[in-house]
Amino acid sequence: MRFPAGFLWGASTSAFQVEGSTTADGRGRSIWDTFAETPGNVLDGDTGEPGGDHYNRYPEDVAIMRELGLGAYRFSIAWPRVLPEGGGQVNQAGLDFYDRLVDALLEAGIDPWPTLYHWDLPQALEDAGGWPARDTAYRFADFAEVMRDALGDRVSTWTTVNEPWCAAFLGYADGAHAPGRREPAAALAAAHHLMLGHGLAAAALREGQGGTGQARRVGLVLNPTTLRPNSTDPADITAVRRADGVRNRIFHGPLFQGAYPQDVLDDLAPVSDFAFVKDGDLSIISAPLDLVGVNFYTPHWIAASDRGIDPADIASGGDSSAYVGCEDLTFVWHGLPRTGIGWEVDPSGLYDVLTRLAGDAQGVPIYIIENGAAYPDQVDEDDAVHDPDRVAYLDGHLRAVREAMKAGAPLAGYFAWSLLDNFEWAWGYSQRFGLVHVDYETQRRRIKDSGRWYAQVARSGELPG
Ligand code: NOJ
Repeated sequence: MRFPAGFLWGASTSAFQVEGSTTADGRGRSIWDTFAETPGNVLDGDTGEPGGDHYNRYPEDVAIMRELGLGAYRFSIAWPRVLPEGGGQVNQAGLDFYDRLVDALLEAGIDPWPTLYHWDLPQALEDAGGWPARDTAYRFADFAEVMRDALGDRVSTWTTVNEPWCAAFLGYADGAHAPGRREPAAALAAAHHLMLGHGLAAAALREGQGGTGQARRVGLVLNPTTLRPNSTDPADITAVRRADGVRNRIFHGPLFQGAYPQDVLDDLAPVSDFAFVKDGDLSIISAPLDLVGVNFYTPHWIAASDRGIDPADIASGGDSSAYVGCEDLTFVWHGLPRTGIGWEVDPSGLYDVLTRLAGDAQGVPIYIIENGAAYPDQVDEDDAVHDPDRVAYLDGHLRAVREAMKAGAPLAGYFAWSLLDNFEWAWGYSQRFGLVHVDYETQRRRIKDSGRWYAQVARSGELPG
């Protein structure tokens, strides 16, 4: 199975998950420092230390990327490294890290793809209200300007916000992520302000000359997923419509149609009157994109209630409290194989996401910015990491990507999650998603079998077999 010439192959990380060095060179605190240091929030009390020590070991990591034959590296910029208080004084030492990283990537022939917000909000801005406060969107645009001025001469492709659904709803409704608030109405305001922040930042990034002689391209990274009814019962079908509203359409509507879907507003009326939407916001949010990023891991099956469902089939990972207004719905296991983190493996879910998004986004190029799997990897006696399950996961999902392309979805590239094993949020270091194994004691890197397999795919543009 061959991909077209020019299809981009990359790998992704994010700042808080890999950098470590959380107090180095004047970095300010982020909501993830505070959250992780609070007992009970993260498995085993893990924190952003040591991460993958990427802050110091980036030259070695860039060399690994080169060995893997990657065309691009998606990383994120830690806002509190650059603006320790969220705004105001720039911390030059923090900014310099990204300057060095971008230069090292360009030197290695790897295109830098920074994301501006991967969940590490400066704590000072959370103290001032966080994403439920409108001002945070404007502070984010200021941060985007700082980054444009610092890297815009060399960086051509930017993404603003990563997974606004997680940032808003896991952070402010479900509480499983930082800042750990459980305020459904505030989560809806957070979602809107993340999108407003995206729109304002995108406008800022577009100003001025493009990087490396090319026009700057700007997009954002969504995590739409496929939601399927547990049965043909009309109640289950309605349950899916509602959940799809607060997972997918609450973002696709403003972005691609310049409006919140009416049924979403109606469903959520008992929670919020959406008075946080101000004149002009939707045209800022719906300004045309150069690309849209997709992160995909697993689809979900949903039932209208738990009546008649075997308790063993009720999915633990469904995050129903993050689906504001849908707390009465039940997420159901579908009997599929699961990865180490417990997520069901179903590449057809990715096919469905891509073909649907192709319609919603009307021709905007789509890049998979994250896709991958956690498995309990071990270093074997031969000093290697043999991870056939991850190879099978990647192979199956890449086949789904190719099929979606054949069906007309404008896919232009694929980034594996993740380059390195890293801090998997509330799961701490217990879940390894890397193509490259990290020994957290010694920080030694070992390319896993999946990394070598992926390198072969990236080099040949073809899936073996
Ligand atoms: C998506 C997030 O962007 C990333 O940070 C996370 O590690 C992966 N999902 C896996 O959960």
